[in-house]
Amino acid sequence: MEKRKFIIDCDTGTDDAIAILAAFGSEEIELVGITSVNGNVNEEYTSKNNLDLCEYLNFDCPVTHGATLPLSSGYRNSSDITHGKTGLGSIILPDATRTKFDSRMAPLFIYEKAKELKGELELLVIGPMTNIAIALIEYPELTDLIKHIYFMGGSVWGGNVTTTAEFNIWADPEAGHTVLSSGIPMTMIGLDVTLKAIMTIQDIEDLRNNNTKASNLAADLLDFMVIRRDKGGEDLVMHDALALAAALYPECMTYKEYWMDVETTGTYTRGHTFADVRNKIGNKANVKVAMDVDVEAFRKWLVEKINNYKV
Ligand code: BDR
Ligand code: CA
Repeated sequence: MEKRKFIIDCDTGTDDAIAILAAFGSEEIELVGITSVNGNVNEEYTSKNNLDLCEYLNFDCPVTHGATLPLSSGYRNSSDITHGKTGLGSIILPDATRTKFDSRMAPLFIYEKAKELKGELELLVIGPMTNIAIALIEYPELTDLIKHIYFMGGSVWGGNVTTTAEFNIWADPEAGHTVLSSGIPMTMIGLDVTLKAIMTIQDIEDLRNNNTKASNLAADLLDFMVIRRDKGGEDLVMHDALALAAALYPECMTYKEYWMDVETTGTYTRGHTFADVRNKIGNKANVKVAMDVDVEAFRKWLVEKINNYKV
């Protein structure tokens, strides 16, 4: 069977890295590129993390640079306790020496791949949506060339940066608005489900016992999260891998369809993904939204995917 074709657009990031490892182990897809964006840490780190990850695990796929700033809000992260200074927690991967970045920037790369794949390209967007928004603005015909976008971002109820805004959308609300109003079919995996997707010590053991470079790296990333949690930070939350699960194992979640937009002007709600839950506005639904998840099934799936990668 033809493999589904994906680009992962990401701000790697501890949980982004785990999603990437799971994608490496997913034989039903072909990863045609990894595009990097400013987000959890600056783009110089997120792109380096992506290139280093591919080389460290002998995974052959183009990696590009991408947006270093959001469309307009000027947000630029300077590292925090969630992902460590360089994005991979306390993990330092060997510098990539054999491989180089693709010469194209993310928006052009996405556009050219979408054209080449004639409507078959799917996107997994697990960072701020800046690259996708720029691509849509620069190449409007891209709208008809992308089959589906699965994105980690937003939430129907409640945020993690402000009361109502989730990080990826809050970091670039204008980009979120551009993408959500594009008309491309999309599935949102927001905090409504991702905050439930917490890995356990048993999962770390199952990864360690598999004893590949990939599974040990995932276990190291989760160990960092244990320490982070014990210091009062975020738990072992798999925001980004859950977005991959929505694409490859959709049965582990339940969904509703809503018309959604991103607040770009609210005094208190900038970056909020507004869902017309009571259908007061009456527009046709544009987003399929994950509302609940079978956490045990997801955790099992994730460990299996990572353990399936043989390097
Ligand atoms: C999102 O923000 C980042 O910290 C994670 O990588 C995830 O994509 C969760 O709000
Ligand atoms: Ca991310």
